[in-house]
Amino acid sequence: MKELPLPKALTYIEPGPLTLVTTFDGQKPNVMTISWTAAIDFDQHILLTTGPWNHSFETLLKTKECVVCIPGPDMLKTAVKIGMISGKDENKFTRFHLKTQPAQQVKPPLLTDCIACLECQVEDYIEKYGFIILQVLKLWENENCPDKRLVHAVGDGTFIADGEKFSLRSLMKAKLPPGL
Ligand SMILES: Cc1cc2nc3c(=O)[nH]c(=O)nc-3n(C[C@H](O)[C@H](O)[C@H](O)COP(=O)(O)O)c2cc1C
Repeated sequence: MKELPLPKALTYIEPGPLTLVTTFDGQKPNVMTISWTAAIDFDQHILLTTGPWNHSFETLLKTKECVVCIPGPDMLKTAVKIGMISGKDENKFTRFHLKTQPAQQVKPPLLTDCIACLECQVEDYIEKYGFIILQVLKLWENENCPDKRLVHAVGDGTFIADGEKFSLRSLMKAKLPPGL
């Protein structure tokens, strides 16, 4: 095998789906793009990786609330543009014509053009790695979304939309928790 430069390692362990994370600081909503995501257990705990260089971060830690929205391939360009500017300087909802509706259990809004929205509460922050651990409180799906493929950031500026799906459910029956 050919040895590769170490920074390329992450491109082989691509994270969970690209997300748009909405927050509300008490005055106005904000939204940021987060590609470092993962589901970490079967009890609706998920992980985001972020840090104090983002305006959303302070709000996340202060309010302990967010909505994690899952954009499909049709929103990929917008998601990248959202991740290139800060809500500190600009209202990204107006700039990118984002459609919203109120969430039920938290103050930040749902992005209704996304495939799904997860209302979440911040449960923990592990500073060393920038890990924000969230508990999902409520889950919404956009039934009318034209393309429900999840998008993954490879980490080098390229992206993958989910492809062929293989069902091995019968083989895994004994290990699948109820509801899945
Ligand atoms: C494709 C893409 C993926 C990103 N993923 C992350 C991420 O996983 N974690 C993070 O902290 N920032 C990530 N960012 C950067 C933030 O979205 C960006 O700093 C954003 O402008 C922060 O907005 P805010 O200052 O309004 O909170 C990503 C940006 C792009 C374009």
